[in-house]
Amino acid sequence: MSDARGATSEMSGVRREATTALACRGLRKIYLQGRVEVPVLLGVDLTVGKGEHVAIVGASGSGKSTLLHLLGGLDSATAGEVEIGGRDIQSLNEAQRGELRNQTLGFVYQFHHLLPEFTAIENVAMPLLIRRMRPAEAHARAVEMLQRVGLGHRLEHAPSELSGGERQRVAIARALVTKPACVLADEPTGNLDRQTASEVFALMLELNRGLGTSLVIATHDSEIAAHAARILRLVDGVLQAA
Ligand SMILES: Nc1ncnc2c1ncn2[C@@H]1O[C@H](COP(=O)(O)OP(=O)(O)O)[C@@H](O)[C@H]1O
Ligand SMILES: [Mg+2]
Repeated sequence: MSDARGATSEMSGVRREATTALACRGLRKIYLQGRVEVPVLLGVDLTVGKGEHVAIVGASGSGKSTLLHLLGGLDSATAGEVEIGGRDIQSLNEAQRGELRNQTLGFVYQFHHLLPEFTAIENVAMPLLIRRMRPAEAHARAVEMLQRVGLGHRLEHAPSELSGGERQRVAIARALVTKPACVLADEPTGNLDRQTASEVFALMLELNRGLGTSLVIATHDSEIAAHAARILRLVDGVLQAA
């Protein structure tokens, strides 16, 4: 994270300061369904500052998940540029992109996507092991992060042995254990009841603030969106101020 400090990078001829965590410009995504084009994103520009909290709202099917996937380098755009941690992802090969994702981003999804055959600790330690951290240290950090999300008493539980809210806490611990520059959260509380959703979301905000992590959250929940410093709405393939 700190290696980008003081550096600048070029994108579309614009010099971006190292205060940017994530950016995209002219982003377009047109899916092909057989021979039929499904236009979803038609020129999205977004710059997320370090530590900034941005909410993306929009009707179901408006392209929120598509946008987060592109911002996370998980799918490629039809056109446009994505810059993660000051690096243009088109200039990287798949292995380098994976490395950059692991170094810079954390992901939280509506459905936890935890590995079912692994315990809470093992799931949370995974991104650190991928970074080739020593297993003992990865394990210790996973325990610490699980304690911070209030799951110190559920370390050895498998996902199937946890409640929905607890699983989402594990997913949040996994996303934040690497202290990423930016977390991309796609309807992170969409699968939880209102009370649990509020608790899980409050925890996520607290951890993000504590770590100085940027947060881009896609949500159809206006109460959750209202906490963001900036709320943007996806309409007809472009982002508008909400
Ligand atoms: N792989 C795909 N192939 C074709 N169409 C897709 C694909 N993924 C998503 N879409 C379409 O793109 C639109 C936006 O989807 P999505 O990004 O999931 O929206 P949101 O997250 O806002 O509900 C939808 O109309 C969806 O049907
Ligand atoms: Mg979605």
